[in-house]
Amino acid sequence: SGVEALGNMIAEASSIVPFTGAGISTECGIPDFRSPGGLWTRNRPIAFDEFVSSLDARDESWRRRFAMEPTFAAARPGRGHRALASLYKAGKVPAIITQNIDNLHQMSGFKPDDVVELHGNTTYARCIGCGQAYDLAWVKARFEETGSAPDCTVCDDPVKTATISFGQAMPEDQMRRATELAQHCDLFLAIGSSLVVWPAAGFPLMAKNCGAKLVIINNEPTEQDDVADLVIRHDIGETLGPFVGN
Ligand code: OAD
Ligand code: ZN
Repeated sequence: SGVEALGNMIAEASSIVPFTGAGISTECGIPDFRSPGGLWTRNRPIAFDEFVSSLDARDESWRRRFAMEPTFAAARPGRGHRALASLYKAGKVPAIITQNIDNLHQMSGFKPDDVVELHGNTTYARCIGCGQAYDLAWVKARFEETGSAPDCTVCDDPVKTATISFGQAMPEDQMRRATELAQHCDLFLAIGSSLVVWPAAGFPLMAKNCGAKLVIINNEPTEQDDVADLVIRHDIGETLGPFVGN
């Protein structure tokens, strides 16, 4: 079966780089983007230039984030997160690349420095001008006080969740580290991503082109199934559950 083949590939590999998407966190109660019921089936994404130029878009973006707060606050690592953390503890995984913004890899035991977040993190906020970090609680209190999204107390630019929106520049340091990881592993695991958002979706192909074996674990077909060495079209928690250690 797929799980047995995966187990053999994991046993043979010395440097495994996982690359995760929203599908690994659905069992933790966080909806993905493109499945039925996914976030982009309910709300149109707010692009970065809209956030910058429109006060209404900015307020709407923060209202959406506050509405998600109970979901993010209650989420705990699932079987997928825990299995990857076990491989990390065992020294098989040097670091993880993620498109996720939910902080669950850190919560499962990865050191923050070993989580390469391509799309940022939604558990705190940043000024888009000077980069000053803010607690979400501070943003929420200001929003409730004034009825609108707050600006930076240092430079007056808008404060946004520390995530990357469509049209926003990718974080350079994280892109560089993801490139190094993809180029120097012998097994690359693409888990729970539709692999349609670029440049993130370039990393599985990059790893494959640099000689790594590529495994795709996702319950729907992806754009890159045809180049993978192994495709496991099955539930992530069930597939990775057997790799959760003690
Ligand atoms: P998507 O929603 O595009 O894809 C998630 C995939 O996970 C889907 O193909 C699902 O079928 C699959 N899936 C969900 N739950 C699963 C489970 N329990 N077992 C197996 N498969 C499961 O999410 P991403 O690929 O992560 O970016 O989306 C990429 C980017 O698009 C996100 O980082 C975000 C979004 O716009 C930005 O906001 C910049
Ligand atoms: Zn600022």
